[in-house]
Amino acid sequence: MAEIIDGKKISQDIKDETRDKVAALKEKGIEASLAVILVGNDPASAVYVRNKKKACEYTGIKSLSYELPEETTEAELLELIDKLNSDKTVNGILVQLPLPKHINEDAVIKRISPDKDVDGFHPESVGRLSIGERGFQSCTPAGVIQLLKRSNVQIEGSECVVVGRSNIVGKPMAMLLIRENGTVTVCHSRTKDLREVTKRADILVVAIGKPEFIDASYVKDGAVVIDVGIHRKGEKKLCGDVDYASVEPVASKITPVPGGVGPMTIAMLMNNCYEAAVMQNNL
Ligand code: GUN
Repeated sequence: MAEIIDGKKISQDIKDETRDKVAALKEKGIEASLAVILVGNDPASAVYVRNKKKACEYTGIKSLSYELPEETTEAELLELIDKLNSDKTVNGILVQLPLPKHINEDAVIKRISPDKDVDGFHPESVGRLSIGERGFQSCTPAGVIQLLKRSNVQIEGSECVVVGRSNIVGKPMAMLLIRENGTVTVCHSRTKDLREVTKRADILVVAIGKPEFIDASYVKDGAVVIDVGIHRKGEKKLCGDVDYASVEPVASKITPVPGGVGPMTIAMLMNNCYEAAVMQNNL
């Protein structure tokens, strides 16, 4: 029987800690703020943006909302980013992805000042993470590190295997685990003998994007299993990249879906906004 790693509880703790830190900043006359930009009518994005604004409200971070029509041009979006980059009252800038097809996402990500890049997607943020400099960490992998640390999982010296190599999760996840002195292997859908690799893991982080792909045959007895995936299963149910029913009996600790990694992303975003305000005020 695995211990369940409760992402809802841990994310709530982080939001509460951030709320306290934001309140302490306010006492010094500094109001942390986040600009959230949504372009177009993607319903899933609208939900994410609403949740981000709610989390801002909870933590005391001022949120500025820019909801732009589908027809917004790339030039118009870049112009708004330029304006927010130079606005001293804005600490963080978040452009919700995906963007409409006529807008080049890379160009948009690169236009956000690295000082305000609270998503941690700018190449400078990625580079800083790789060489161990201070900078914004991508929220989901940073959330996974918090789940491990706050569940007393020792990363240092452990065999960590990351399944998936995306820019948003797999690659930054590997970098953060290295920073914590884990022994890190990255594997993916083209890995020759995936089972042989994942079976070595003391800590297995799965972000392969395939519903219930990892069953018990991929997992060493007693491993800690972190599931970054989220998929719809039928009408109402959600599932992850891990076959929970199969893996739970062999793992020592496991994250559920929902209620595992998911809620951590927004909690870490709030913390990044606080950090942005601290850095921009030279504290
Ligand atoms: N779309 C899905 N996840 C994310 C995220 O973490 N940040 C942004 N900006 N867009 C997303």
